[in-house]
Amino acid sequence: MWRRTTWLPPLFSSSKRSLVNQIQGAYGLRIWRTMSSEIQKPEEDGTFPRGITPFITFVLGGPGSGKGTQCARIVENFGFTHLSAGDLLRQEISSNSENGAMILNTIKDGKIVPSEVTVKLIQKAIESSESHKFLIDGFPRTEENRLTYERIIGAEPNIVLFFDCPPEEMVKRVLNRRQGRVDDNANTVKERLKIFRALSLPVVNYYAKKGKLYKIDGTGTEDEIFERVRPIFAA
Ligand code: C5P
Ligand code: MG
Repeated sequence: MWRRTTWLPPLFSSSKRSLVNQIQGAYGLRIWRTMSSEIQKPEEDGTFPRGITPFITFVLGGPGSGKGTQCARIVENFGFTHLSAGDLLRQEISSNSENGAMILNTIKDGKIVPSEVTVKLIQKAIESSESHKFLIDGFPRTEENRLTYERIIGAEPNIVLFFDCPPEEMVKRVLNRRQGRVDDNANTVKERLKIFRALSLPVVNYYAKKGKLYKIDGTGTEDEIFERVRPIFAA
């Protein structure tokens, strides 16, 4: 699943040895080819053998489509580590980082934060985790998000989930959830839906064409939706 690009960027650029370097060091480039066509099987405890590339699931859907809620259920049942791009951005606002004000204004407007900022937060979160299977929720939101991830991380997701939900239902859920978010109001939700249709749906279609997409009916109760998700991970 991890695709080789024309040049071989470091998978995760940190002071730690990059995962690609570890893999190449241990097995030579041969493993790269193996990984580009096979999904690595985790051990019984959910971890991957040392030096093996993590299993990445992107989780897509409009605002209020149930991404976060279902990710929590997948974590509970299948031991994934959940990284929400929106949560990582909100943490960045709270930590008063240099990008905090820009991120806050972008989120307030329902627009998309520059891809490098978001990808670097995801990269840092993956690097600092011991986990080998991740749900990356709310990402990629745009083709540019996707291409930036591929450029910086040098890889593609193993699978992609898409929670399909009618806009009226999504608006109702967002306006009822009362989590104190600056963007859960009627005006911003309208903008978020517009962005979702214009910029995120092309990403969904891209993964559908690649045969990586699992489209899930996002209507009904949490339990009903999770029963549609379960078989994907139980397989
Ligand atoms: O996914 P969530 O609804 O938590 O995202 C909230 C907001 O964070 C989005 O409306 C957008 O402004 C920002 N975001 C982004 N790029 C992403 C994910 C979220 O700009 N990939
Ligand atoms: Mg969320």
